[in-house]
Amino acid sequence: MPFNHKHLLGTQFLSPSDITTVLDTAESMLEISTREIKKVPTLRGKTIINLFFEPSTRTRSSFEMAAKRLSADIINFSKETSSMVKKESLKDTVLNLEAMNTDALIIRHSSSGALHFISTFCKSHIINAGDGAHEHPTQALLDAFTIRQEKKNIEGLRILIVGDILHSRVARSNIFLLKKLGAEVTLAGPPPLVPEEFKKFGVDIDFNLGRALKGADVVMMLRIQLERQQKNLFPSIREYRNLYSLTRKRFRSAKKNAIIMHPGPINRGVEISADLADSAKSLILKQVENGIAVRMAVLYLLLGGKEREITD
Ligand code: CP
Repeated sequence: MPFNHKHLLGTQFLSPSDITTVLDTAESMLEISTREIKKVPTLRGKTIINLFFEPSTRTRSSFEMAAKRLSADIINFSKETSSMVKKESLKDTVLNLEAMNTDALIIRHSSSGALHFISTFCKSHIINAGDGAHEHPTQALLDAFTIRQEKKNIEGLRILIVGDILHSRVARSNIFLLKKLGAEVTLAGPPPLVPEEFKKFGVDIDFNLGRALKGADVVMMLRIQLERQQKNLFPSIREYRNLYSLTRKRFRSAKKNAIIMHPGPINRGVEISADLADSAKSLILKQVENGIAVRMAVLYLLLGGKEREITD
């Protein structure tokens, strides 16, 4: 199916068939990373810039590897060593980088909606690598790819997302995507971090983790984002751990073949026990591995690589 988008700003703008196209394309990309020479010429001559205004371990390096495996030229922009420290604006920074005949900008920013603003004046492809508490579309796509790899089909699965939903761009992108693919999504966590208004997206809410875990096929844990909390929304980390940490004992309520996911970075022993994070039930590192194939697929579909070149 064609993928007729100039930018990837959020999963809310993708149709079920767009999502399937990305996941199917990522299947073809997966094999490239297992070759001795992990490189194809598909995006040779394309120039991409990674602009991360917030820290990242996984997303930035994953996009960089994805671009390099497709033979694109990619550079990493660092705010700290740029003229932004001399008060150059976001708009002027982006316009100047784009003036270097850039084909795509991969951007992470702390403000929700910053990517929409940039897309109003940019000519190149814009890829959202996470904007505030709004969206993180490639994380949701790689999560869906990992679930599909494990469970074959997403439709009808019971998927539980646990934790700081309020501040989570990963939760929002996953909710939009998983509902479009026909999953049953439940949100769990402390009431101040799980707003009732999320019900408008077609999800269930249960503040009791033990009850919410019953019958779950997929348990997606989220990081407590202490850096985004304006005020104390739960009494203490100890209380949070007592009520919402995923432990082996609690996880027994989920389906026997249930899987555990987490976008990272994890707070070991807070949202998930360390032994469970490292267990065979946990797909946390598989998600990271799959992230490269999914981001290769996104770059390929947006920047117009040719089908025949993938298999070269
Ligand atoms: N999952 C994720 O976005 O991780 P990073 O912040 O390390 O990119």
